[in-house]
Amino acid sequence: MNVLIYENEQQIGIAAGNYMCGQVLQKPDSVLGLATGSTPLKPYSQMAELYKKGVVDFSKVKTFNLDEYVNLDVKDKNSYHTFMHENLFKHINIPQENINFLNGNSDNLEKECKEYEKRIKEAGGIDVQLLGIGSNGHIAFNEPADCFQRWSHVVTLKESTVKDNSRFFNSIEEVPTQAVTMGIGSIMQAKKILIIALGEKKAKAIKQLIDGNVTPQCPASVLQFHANVTLMLDKGAASLL
Ligand code: PGA
Repeated sequence: MNVLIYENEQQIGIAAGNYMCGQVLQKPDSVLGLATGSTPLKPYSQMAELYKKGVVDFSKVKTFNLDEYVNLDVKDKNSYHTFMHENLFKHINIPQENINFLNGNSDNLEKECKEYEKRIKEAGGIDVQLLGIGSNGHIAFNEPADCFQRWSHVVTLKESTVKDNSRFFNSIEEVPTQAVTMGIGSIMQAKKILIIALGEKKAKAIKQLIDGNVTPQCPASVLQFHANVTLMLDKGAASLL
């Protein structure tokens, strides 16, 4: 694994945004796997900035987001659709039809998950998957479990994740308790993985990802088996290494 440690979030934002844009410059029709949460905010503003400066063109790019809440209106301010639109898509020139999300409002979620996998395959697979990591070691909404869930699936969120995410909602009761998420297999099939972690509360999960046992109790640990992983960490997230 390529472990890069930075002074602060600002520097990581620039480095990660440049990494994603570098991919698009090398391959203009890249397929990008995208993440939500606080971690990718600065990378997304760097991507928008480079687009604004005319450095990079997203018109041939396709994107697949990692996950979405179940039964939350896509127009809700907390949906991942809204997050991506507000923080990235409305600032760059990616065609609407190239943007892909799991539909958490589908009346057949299992079928939706299967079709999502098919769409990723038809697009040629994901070139770079951007990931954050949960304080409990989750990646996307793959929560600690007794086995790795391979493909996209419906998941019931752990209490710790509901609690982490409640900061965006008016109250913890409003946080959806289910989500649809890409699986560990979907993520592992990406050609390259860029994982970013900020702050000491991620330090334990990062330590386990890098040199702990590979176990579904820390889903991110599976990345030890991936051949092309880059980690961008601030000093807090790297504090136990
Ligand atoms: P965060 O979430 O970026 O908001 O910390 C990361 C994650 O849970 O994957």
